[in-house]
Order: sequence, then C-alpha cells, then structure tokens
Amino acid sequence: MAAAFGERPIRAAEVVGALSLATDLGTGQPLEHALRTAVLAVRLGELAGATRQELSDTYYVALLHSAGCTSDGHEAAQLYGDDIVPRAAFALVDSGNAAEVLAFLRSNVGLGRGPELRAAMVEEAIAHGLPVAKQTLAMHCEVAQRIAGWLGFSAGTQAALEYGFERWDGLGFPGLVGGETIPLPTRLLHVARDISVFLTAAGPAEARAMVVRRAGGAYEPGLAELAAQNFDDMLGELDDTRMWAQALEVEPAPQVRMTGDTLDAAFTAIAAFTNLKSPWFRDHSTGVADLAEAAAWRMGLPADSVSLLRRAALAHDLGRAGVSNAIWEKPGSLAFGEWERVRLHAHFTERAFAQSPALADIGRLAGSHHERLDGSGYHRGARGPDLDTAARILAAADCYSAMREARPYRPALGVQEAELELQRDAHEGRLDPDAVDAVLAAAGHRVAKRPRELPAGLTPRELEVLLALVRGDSNQAIGDGLGISVKTAGHHVQHIYDKAGVRSRAAATLWAFEQDLVQSA
Ligand SMILES: [Fe+2]
Repeated sequence: MAAAFGERPIRAAEVVGALSLATDLGTGQPLEHALRTAVLAVRLGELAGATRQELSDTYYVALLHSAGCTSDGHEAAQLYGDDIVPRAAFALVDSGNAAEVLAFLRSNVGLGRGPELRAAMVEEAIAHGLPVAKQTLAMHCEVAQRIAGWLGFSAGTQAALEYGFERWDGLGFPGLVGGETIPLPTRLLHVARDISVFLTAAGPAEARAMVVRRAGGAYEPGLAELAAQNFDDMLGELDDTRMWAQALEVEPAPQVRMTGDTLDAAFTAIAAFTNLKSPWFRDHSTGVADLAEAAAWRMGLPADSVSLLRRAALAHDLGRAGVSNAIWEKPGSLAFGEWERVRLHAHFTERAFAQSPALADIGRLAGSHHERLDGSGYHRGARGPDLDTAARILAAADCYSAMREARPYRPALGVQEAELELQRDAHEGRLDPDAVDAVLAAAGHRVAKRPRELPAGLTPRELEVLLALVRGDSNQAIGDGLGISVKTAGHHVQHIYDKAGVRSRAAATLWAFEQDLVQSA
C-alpha cells in the first residue's frame, strides 16, 4: 500500500543500515561491522580519487555486501552444523591460500556429527566442495543484487554487488573475473570489509599486515598500498561508540531518501531477506503482512497506522537472521538454551531499527509480535495494556500464518484446526478476540459476531432504552417502542443513569458514545 499523504521521507541509509545489522548477525560479525565497512570503504574511495557516483555506489555496496547471507542458511547448517559461526570463520580466510581453506574445512565441516561421518564429510568437501562454494557465493551475490534492485539503488550499485567474493587475482568466487573488470566500488569493499573483520579479530596491526600480505592477491595492489600507507588516518576518527551516526554522516551526497511506495518496497525486500532464511519460512513475512493489513482495515485503523503495521509485519522476523538454522530447523523440541536464542529474535528485530528515530516505532511494533495479553509471550513479557491494537493484530496474524505453514516439528494445520487454535488463544486470554476475529475474517473464515459484555452491568433491555434515549425518544416513546409502560421505561432510564453515573439524558448520550455503544449496537 502507498503511504499516507504527507509522510516524511526516510533516509535509505537508515533502512539499509537496519538491514545491515541483521546481516552482521547472520554472518557472525559484531553489530555495526557493515556500517564500519561503509565508512572505511568511502574513506579509501576518497583517497583513491573515486567519483561521486562511485563513492555513492561504494557506500551502498558496503552496507548491502552481506544481503545474500540468508540464502543458503539451510544448506550451510546441514554442512557445518551451524550457518553463522562458519561464516565468521570463513571471513578471516584468504581464499587464495589453499592451506587456509583446508584448515577452515577441517575445523568447520560436519561439526556435531560422529567422527567417521565427519571425516567423510570433510573429505567430500575437500574433493568436491569448490563448485558448490562457487555456486553458493554466486547465489549470495545475486540475492544481494536483487535486494538492491528492490531498494531502488543505482545500476552501478547493483552491478558491483555481483563481485562481492571475487578477487583481484581471479581466484575468488565464482572466479569468473579479476583485475579491473571488478568494479571499483567492489574493489574498495574487499579491502574495507576485511580490515573491519580483522580489526575485530586481531586488532589494527594485524589488519594492516593482512592488507599488505594480500595485495595483488585478494586486493588491487594500488588500493592495498593506499590503505596501508594511510592506515592510521583511515582508522583515526573511527568511533565505535557512535558508528551508526558516523556511517550516516559519511553517505556521499546527494543523500538517498525513501517514502511511500519506495519505502513499502524496501520493507518487502527486508521480508524477502527474512523469508530466505529457511525453506520453512518462504512466504511467512509477506503472508503475515497481507493478513495484518487486511485485518487492520477491517478494524477501522487509520491509514497511517495500517501503513506502519504493514511495514512492521514485513520486518517482524528480521531478527531470525541472528539465530542458527540448526535451531529453526530442529525437528524436535528445543532445549532451554535453544529457546533462549529463539526468544532473542524478536529483540534483534526491535533493536535493528532502534537507532533510527524515523524507524524505531516500526521496530518496536515488529519486535512485539510474540507478546501475549496475559504476559506469557516474549521478549518483554508485555501485558494487555502495553499492547495496542496494531500489536494485537500483528500477534494474531503471525500466529495464524505460522499455524497454516508446516514447521520441521509439525505439519501445517488445516483451516478449521487453525481457526480453533486461534479462538482458543483468544478465549484463554493470550490473543485479543477482536484482532482474532479480524484476522480470521481477513483469511476468509466466517466469523460470528462475538457477544459483547455490556459496560457498567447494563442489561440488554437497558441498552435498548439507552439507544432510544440517544435518539432523543421521550419516556413515553421509549415505552411505546419497546411495548412497556411509561413507568417501566422511566425505571429503566433511572437505572441507566445510576449505572453510568450521570444525571441527565445528554450526559447519558455522551456516556453511550464514550463506551462505543452507539456504533456497535
Ligand atoms: Fe517470530
């Protein structure tokens, strides 16, 4: 849906910055690694005399360089026993150095398997793993390119993302090109990304030595020399305590902004990134968004709230990137420690958007999707009064969608089963009954009008009398209309006044509106 008229544009750097925090989690890097990479890459680009357009492409290539990281989580978890830790280990490997690659495979392939199976898997990976690795990393790049396209970035940014794992010497992945065929933004990324990785893993001296060591191999010699010569300056003003702000400050002019449909498309890209995490989630985030949006319209939410809810629904599981597929795809019950990781995904979602004042509301709502009215949800254990209508709709839509999808530990629920489960959640006080009805109706279920408890102990007869009062009927007209004596009508009126705590017909009318009785009757 298009955004409400008058919506303020949001900087693309903030949207992509939030996504980059999820890719840091998904690649086992410390948060803000991609943001730091963007700062370093732009600084190196400036030293290298890159044009304004090249600097802009470099900036977004750096922020998006791991946007394909969820695309093989399933396969990576099968091979390594985990999809995140091995990514972090591989980030340190000089892929042109056979000894380093072999050491990586021996340390990471088949973790958690028995010794014989593990040895066979390592042997297989050494013998036949190269074409698979080439294919996999080419897929990462293609996904990142498509996401950049959905985000509306330039042809230069999209083209540069194709070469994220190539090397200057042509020995990268997929190993199709080398040298200056690799666009300058990607050559800058290669140096900056690895400096950031080594800063964390081994400190600045080793990071600098690594750049010198890999010059002419992974990196263009001239860029490596420039980085090594200006290493202290490049790092000099890096401030890890304000990396988000620093990364936003270095975006080359003109700053890219998003609003309306482009912002909706960006959140759809975030949903696609999330859906790719596991084959079990392939259409989950988009399905939740469609359902939540339809339910929100049904419940009469204003357009700007519906827009916020849709974006939050598209982003609600972004934090899943930070939890291993070995946990998401476990066929049995989760251990305590695994559950703790699962509970973190809602927190990760919320915090990915927390540093952007323009996006924090979306993050807060998105991060609330596992909360329950009775306090039994996570990650905050929030209760009813803390959960607004949008949060209640999101929770119901997420539950319904998840029930209708298969999971490794259960088949998909049928339509009737899912309805019964959702109704039970409402009946037992976990989900909001109105939100459940709206979600079920939006999903095509026939929903009976839910009997409503009247406020202040009003009886159904007194409600009829009250509505007649609201219409302006006299006691006589009320009696005639309901087939009761004028005296009985008068008693009803007095009871209504007592229960509502009012003394006049006009005040009773106002009370009826306050209690939302007029519309719902
Ligand atoms: Fe979730």
